[in-house]
Amino acid sequence: MDKKRVFSGIQASGSLHLGNYLGAVSNWVKMQEEYDNYFCVVDLHTITVYQEPKQLRAAVREVAGLLFAAGIREERSVVYVQSHVRAHSELAWILNCITPMGWLHRMTQFKEKSDQHKEEVSVGLFDYPVLQAADILLYDTHLVPVGEDQKQHVELCRDIAQRFNFRYGDVFTLPEAFIPPVGGRVMGLTNPEKKMSKSEEKLDDAIFLLDPPDRIRSKIKKATTDSLKEIRFDESRPGINNLLTIYQLLTGKEKESVENYFADKSYKDLKEELAEVVIESLKPLQERYKELTGEKGYLDSMLERGAERAESYAERKLQKIYRKIGLR
Ligand code: TYM
Repeated sequence: MDKKRVFSGIQASGSLHLGNYLGAVSNWVKMQEEYDNYFCVVDLHTITVYQEPKQLRAAVREVAGLLFAAGIREERSVVYVQSHVRAHSELAWILNCITPMGWLHRMTQFKEKSDQHKEEVSVGLFDYPVLQAADILLYDTHLVPVGEDQKQHVELCRDIAQRFNFRYGDVFTLPEAFIPPVGGRVMGLTNPEKKMSKSEEKLDDAIFLLDPPDRIRSKIKKATTDSLKEIRFDESRPGINNLLTIYQLLTGKEKESVENYFADKSYKDLKEELAEVVIESLKPLQERYKELTGEKGYLDSMLERGAERAESYAERKLQKIYRKIGLR
């Protein structure tokens, strides 16, 4: 059993969108056959910003359901909810005690998020990347498939692991981020200068995985483009570049063949064709989601089994860490 270990996490702070899917989840699905996988719905990360309890409970189930609907298989991957495995919080505390504050002050995502939630920035939000490091390190992870925005957090996790190993001996595997060459940063539809995100105020900016066909058509129709005509990949034209990138990822075509295909077509054609491609790509996922959430207790029992499997690994690792530090 020499398979490399993959770990990744996803928050339950709203519905999943195409950025989450193309930047992360679709790669988890592809990678799962080759690796030993842990995929976690990170509800403890989610509460670093206030969540209404009822909504949080529903969002955790929705996200977990979408992972299975997207093609994550219980036979190949351990899927579970972070708060069901206590070792994550316990290791986060230990890592807190070896992580210098200065390292966290450098995290760009904290700067962005604390600007967005100025009225109340919790200690948890500041400490968020340390909990993320605990997630990854508990499972002796080699690879962390994520979108580009998580690169800095994975690098911090390596630094924390190295510092721990230097003080206490070789305990942690040093993980590496796996960021897809295309799709690591899917941009917003109305504001293509910024990444697509779950933020509520920008509902037309993101295509959510459970959006019905008409919503998808109307959002893509409204997507920002430019005043030029030519349809080709060009980073200096973020709107068109983003629409083409989404098209490319969902059809699996090469850049050149996408450009040739649209050579004599208009922006209107591009938008209409892209909308149909998105709708068709999400259709099987939406159908599976309906099936598996329609059957009472099915999803919960999968998550229970996932938590048991994750816990048995994480608990053993945590005991080893306690001994190394002198807590046992
Ligand atoms: P989260 O929930 O914000 O996003 C989940 C995954 O989706 C990727 N992603 C994107 N990729 C491309 N384009 C976008 N517009 C886009 N938006 C989001 C994210 O990079 C991520 O891979 N901190 C993590 C959750 C986490 C985690 C972990 C990840 C907690 N512990 C341990 C890996 C390992 C986050 O907030 O993801």
